[in-house]
Amino acid sequence: MAEPSPASFPAARPRRLRRTAALRRLAAQVDVRPADLVQPLFVKEGISEPVPVASMPGVAQHTRDSLRKAAAEAAEAGVGGLILFGIPAAKDDRGSAADDPDGIVQAALRDLRAEVGARLVVMADLCLCEYTDHGHCGVLTPGRDVDNDATLERYQAIAVAQARAGAHVVAPSGMMDGQVAAIRQALDGAGFADVAICAYAVKYASGFYGPFRDAAEGAPRFGDRASYQQDPARREEALREVMLDVAEGADIVMVKPALPYLDIVGMVARQASVPVAAYQVSGEYAMIEAAAAAGWLDRDRVIGETLTAIKRAGAGIILTYWATEVARRLA
Ligand code: PBG
Repeated sequence: MAEPSPASFPAARPRRLRRTAALRRLAAQVDVRPADLVQPLFVKEGISEPVPVASMPGVAQHTRDSLRKAAAEAAEAGVGGLILFGIPAAKDDRGSAADDPDGIVQAALRDLRAEVGARLVVMADLCLCEYTDHGHCGVLTPGRDVDNDATLERYQAIAVAQARAGAHVVAPSGMMDGQVAAIRQALDGAGFADVAICAYAVKYASGFYGPFRDAAEGAPRFGDRASYQQDPARREEALREVMLDVAEGADIVMVKPALPYLDIVGMVARQASVPVAAYQVSGEYAMIEAAAAAGWLDRDRVIGETLTAIKRAGAGIILTYWATEVARRLA
């Protein structure tokens, strides 16, 4: 009998390491851990029961009480952190409620710090869109443009209010130029040199934020965010944003959204000298929940696969509305 030719009997058999679960586990390079996950939570002023968010099944706007409960569950599951978004009862053109020491976010931050602050990282989203009556992420010029530098002064006041209320980390998401430097300066000046900044460094103007605007009630009343968020058709600009934010003092840089921007996550992770986070946003969540509800996708499997993909691309920290659920499953 002739020797088998290498062509019909290949020596290289990648399938060898896929044969059993134990071999696959041994060969695996990417592992999503509960501590990598950050749970976004919404708290709303003036409600007596949690209000479900229609476009995000499983997500609710919390009361202060139900927020504490959700935070305790997240801590119990071992998630790495929480990020809080507040929805005030009253809005105005400068977003006054955002830095009100008695406002809903500051009250809820004090609750969270007391309830779970020793077990996980309490982060505060720092923006104006939930607090302004026009829904933009900054204050406006008379011509209704977003006024970059006037907005920075508002961000400084908000950062100090959030730090005073107990935030370990503030996360500016408004995409104003110079926001990290301005906030760092304000925090240091007010005696909060230890409060870290997780910069939404790379934030694309995305349709995937649609459901979030129901959850946080911060949709712009006119125009859109394309003059301050990034253009999806650009790539290397993401590195410029990251370099600026790190130079300005960002402790963590974030890329957002996650799954449609994995190329950007990968590029940033290869360059950044600080931890990289990715935000699996509301539209990514809604898309999978809707397809799963229709019976078109295996929900749990796809959730796990997306988180693995985001981690594999290079994000060490993942903000996801499934954080508590997935952390429980991993435990
Ligand atoms: C506010 C903010 C947004 C998100 C986080 N912070 C919305 C926006 O920029 O329009 C999106 C989060 C999500 O979609 O899950 N600046």
